Formats: sequence, C-alpha cells, structure tokens
Amino acid sequence: MEFTFVMIKPDGVQRGLIGEVIGRFEKKGLVLRGLKVINVERSFAETHYADLSAKRFFNDLVDYIISGPVVAMVWEGRGVIATARNLIGATNPAESAPGTIRGDYAVHISRNVIHGSDTVENARKEIAMWFPEGTITWNSCIDPWIY
Ligand code: PPS
Repeated sequence: MEFTFVMIKPDGVQRGLIGEVIGRFEKKGLVLRGLKVINVERSFAETHYADLSAKRFFNDLVDYIISGPVVAMVWEGRGVIATARNLIGATNPAESAPGTIRGDYAVHISRNVIHGSDTVENARKEIAMWFPEGTITWNSCIDPWIY
C-alpha cells in the first residue's frame, strides 16, 4: 500500500469544500489515515514549498497558504499518489478536466483549492512534516470489494 499527503488550501476550506473533497476520496475507495485543521506559520509553509523558493510566485503562494486554516490529510491506497492527483486534476485549473476537483471548483492557478504529493519521496517527506505525531492504522472492511 502507498500513502500520500493531501492539503485542502484556505480557499477550499473557506468555500465549504471540505466535505466534497473528502467524499470524493472516500467514494474512490481510499482510506483516511490522518486529518487535521490547522493554521500554519510562514516558516512552515516556506519549508513545505522550499523547492519553489526561486519562483516569482513563491511569496504569493506562501501568503495564500497562511491566509487561513488548511485541512491536512494522509490517504492510503494502491497507487494512491497518482490516484489522488487524478482526482485533484491538473495544477492549472484552466487545464483541469471537468470531473476533477480543480476542474469543477477552481478557475485560477493561484487559488487551486487542493495540494497532493507528486512522488513517493515527497509524500514521505510531507507526511513526516505535517504529521510528526504519526497517523492512524485501521483496516477497512470494504477492502475486499475494492481490490
Ligand atoms: S512549477 O513552476 O512548474 O514548478 O510549478 P507547478 O508544478 O506548476 O506548481 C507547483 C506549485 O506551485 C503552485 N503555483 C502557484 N501558486 C500561486 N501562484 C501561481 N502563479 C502559481 N503557479 C504555480 C501550484 O499550485 C503548485 O502548488 P501545489 O500546492 O503543489 O499544488
């Protein structure tokens, strides 16, 4: 099994999309292993997006992420990193397919509702950073009907 980190960004939280996002992930058959609503410090957001520190949009991106609470989650499933990114849709909502979260609920790249880890290595790093307390282990009884 694989794990991924997913964050509902401040626009998604304030627009009331938490239930919609979680519902889509659950109905797909993914398993929720960690969930919290938090405000992050500027330095924490800068570390999360450290790979983008040279980009001209970096400060705007950090301002956006610290502008309000976010929902941090860990999801588990077979191939969950790719599956989550398919559910999320292309980074730029102008290019996200209808039926994806960004395709259905976002218009502009600077307010694209949700983040999902892009690689196994980044998922591991992001989960360790956002959930230093660890995550929950439980067995879903519907697994045999999904895999
Ligand atoms: S890049 O430039 O190719 O490295 O960036 P990309 O992979 O497309 O996006 C990485 C994250 O940066 C966010 N992003 C932006 N935020 C604010 N404003 C602008 N213009 C912008 N462009 C990209 C993008 O949403 C990605 O965030 P996450 O949270 O990782 O999805």
